[in-house]
Amino acid sequence: MVFEIRNKVALITGGAKGLGYNFAKALLSKGLKGVTLVDINENDGILAEKELNEIYGNDKALFVKCDITNYAEFEEAFQRTIKKFHQLDILANNAGVGFDGIWRKEIDVNIIGTINGFILGMDHYLNKYKSTNEGVIIATSSTAGLGGYAPWPVYSATKFAITGMVKSWGCQFHYQRTGVRVVEVCPCAIATDLLNTDAFSLSPLYEGSMETIKNEVEQVQKPEHVAGEMVKMVEDAPNGSIWVVEAGEPAFEFSLPKREIFKKE
Ligand SMILES: NC(=O)c1ccc[n+]([C@@H]2O[C@H](COP(=O)([O-])OP(=O)(O)OC[C@H]3O[C@@H](n4cnc5c(N)ncnc54)[C@H](O)[C@@H]3O)[C@@H](O)[C@H]2O)c1
Repeated sequence: MVFEIRNKVALITGGAKGLGYNFAKALLSKGLKGVTLVDINENDGILAEKELNEIYGNDKALFVKCDITNYAEFEEAFQRTIKKFHQLDILANNAGVGFDGIWRKEIDVNIIGTINGFILGMDHYLNKYKSTNEGVIIATSSTAGLGGYAPWPVYSATKFAITGMVKSWGCQFHYQRTGVRVVEVCPCAIATDLLNTDAFSLSPLYEGSMETIKNEVEQVQKPEHVAGEMVKMVEDAPNGSIWVVEAGEPAFEFSLPKREIFKKE
């Protein structure tokens, strides 16, 4: 059965701009009741809240300034969502950074921040405050979470970590205890500000590594396209499933083989 977006409430991390902001718009276009944009970037967050309320009607969007690596701050964003909208049905664990030059911080945001979101979403808020029998968590990984990329070993490792979270929290055991479905989106290059950073790679030794992924980077896609595909995943992608979105094409499902098939008889 299709999960109805109409009258649901979503919390989106990294919602001030880029993919998260476009995902908010795509959900609101389908009749979402309200959205909380959670982001560390206050300027863009305030602007995003204002824009969404202008387009979709007053009181549809709430911006909460928050660093997702700080559990207490992140929990406050959930509490403010419940106070304003009285329910929570969809969580997008979407915020992420791509700067291997500051790799401990990158691990903090992409792994610790995403784990904070899963714990708060699965165990404390979506399980209790979903308005129907099912809630959904969509986690933004990357094609770098399914295979290696020479320019960003650490970024890739953080995105592989998200695949581990989705395969584990997306098990039947957790669905039965929480009623929360978990899906993963793995986009390839998107036209956003993610890579506008001076700390892009670990060191000058990585110079020239972009050549190895030239074709993928050239097929950069619009965030609106990826956001539209994410809406379809929220509607009916199976629990624990992983979806690739690249080159502006429709999403396709990726699956990890069972390790037993590699066993020699
Ligand atoms: N742009 C790409 O090519 C691409 C490809 C694959 C996956 N992704 C993933 O998509 C997601 C969204 O990125 P984007 O491309 O929209 O980039 P973006 O930089 O436009 O948006 C990321 C948002 O996350 C926020 N953020 C960063 N650290 C935070 C923190 N500690 N707490 C709260 N918010 C924080 C930023 O302020 C920003 O608004 C990321 O997880 C990224 O890894 C991006």
